[in-house]
Amino acid sequence: MTGITLAGQARIISVFFMANTILVGGQWGDEGKGRIIDVLAEKSDYVVRYQGGNNAGHEVHIGDAVYVLHLIPSGILHPGKVCVIGNGVVVDPVALVDEIKNLRRQGIRITPQNLVISETAHLVLPYHKLLDAERESRKGAQKIGTTKRGIGPAYGDKAARIGIRVLDLLKTARFREKLRTRIEENNAILRAGGGKPLSFDAVCAECLRAGRFLRPFIRNGVTLLHDAMRQRKNILFEGAQGTLLDIDFGTYPYVTSSHPTAGGACVGSGIPPTCIDRVVGVVKAYTTRVGEGPFPTQYDDELGTEIQKIGDEFGRTTGRGRRCGWFDSVVVRYAQQINGINDLAVTKLDVLDHLSELKICVAYRNGRKAYRTIPMDLDDLRRCKPVYETYKGWQTSTKQVRRYRDLPLNARTYLAAISRHCGAPISIVSVGPRRHETVLVRNSS
Ligand code: IMP
Repeated sequence: MTGITLAGQARIISVFFMANTILVGGQWGDEGKGRIIDVLAEKSDYVVRYQGGNNAGHEVHIGDAVYVLHLIPSGILHPGKVCVIGNGVVVDPVALVDEIKNLRRQGIRITPQNLVISETAHLVLPYHKLLDAERESRKGAQKIGTTKRGIGPAYGDKAARIGIRVLDLLKTARFREKLRTRIEENNAILRAGGGKPLSFDAVCAECLRAGRFLRPFIRNGVTLLHDAMRQRKNILFEGAQGTLLDIDFGTYPYVTSSHPTAGGACVGSGIPPTCIDRVVGVVKAYTTRVGEGPFPTQYDDELGTEIQKIGDEFGRTTGRGRRCGWFDSVVVRYAQQINGINDLAVTKLDVLDHLSELKICVAYRNGRKAYRTIPMDLDDLRRCKPVYETYKGWQTSTKQVRRYRDLPLNARTYLAAISRHCGAPISIVSVGPRRHETVLVRNSS
């Protein structure tokens, strides 16, 4: 099996090579990772979420059913896979209980045998959500555009060493004590900002109820995964959000508060870097961004609205419309470097089927200065203008295509250019939201 290479020639990249694979988003999130994880999960034994919280929203279409996952790894949709919520995730216990119940209602089997919650993951609690919203409204025009799910404040408490962890839910007296201190302190902040304080009794009862439900799923994630490795099981690490939202490597401060990059998979699960065999980067055939922050290749309003509609570019978590733009290889080349991406999965190619002309951004220019990598100073990035290469559209539907060689020539030329500019071969192309609407790149030559 082969992938498309820089020169458009064959290179051995087995789509089915699994071992320990990390899947990362190569842009600003919403790359369609759920869709690709679903394809790769088939060959894995364990699927691990390693960062973020229920700010993420993966959507997987199987037949006519649509499953939306926020905290639970998409592997849950495959019978027989063990799904792990790793220590690097922040868990809203009430939201997780709802998610489990909703999936069960849709007929998905979820038991302590196929879902494990790492005991050292930190909790997202109601005051985190209120503080998230309060900080955003205080920032006014400077707001980040967070999902208001309390993610930043929860990671903030973790770093400040005042967080409450999943394992705390298991010891009622200790949990009550920790929660009381946190609620008292946060109520003072909320009152000072003119907000309504939280009732300790109500929050505590709600959390302990969720804790009782989750108890059988809570385990030591590190031991579990190391045992799995000893048994030579294949582990798939599923990142949420994307490289440009990484708190260190993204467009700070317009980022999330965790590490969606490949390094985050090790820290967020307890698996050492020496045990990782492959990194797959998922990128959309164009670019989208939700929330605030600079976006050099954003389309003009007309094309932006058109692609948003055709691509159904609305957040699964917040319903917000995503900004859309041309494919930016400066961004993805950077993601390739940071994550050590071995191969790319390109999603939503079909959304571009109708265009007569497409552009790929290959560099930025600010006056006389050219940039091949993304400037980290956002004032510089805001001033950058994209340098584009133009490609002919294919203007025919790709939705029915299942073999790479059956894609229209202009589509293959466009994909080869993406691969060349981003420095990684392409192993998977998706041409529709459904599980079977996937082109596994076997022989591109
Ligand atoms: P937070 O993660 O809710 O704190 O939001 C911080 C930034 O990350 C905002 O710009 C969000 O829109 C963005 N963000 C968070 N989760 C996702 C996601 O799953 N997809 C895309 N953007 C996200």
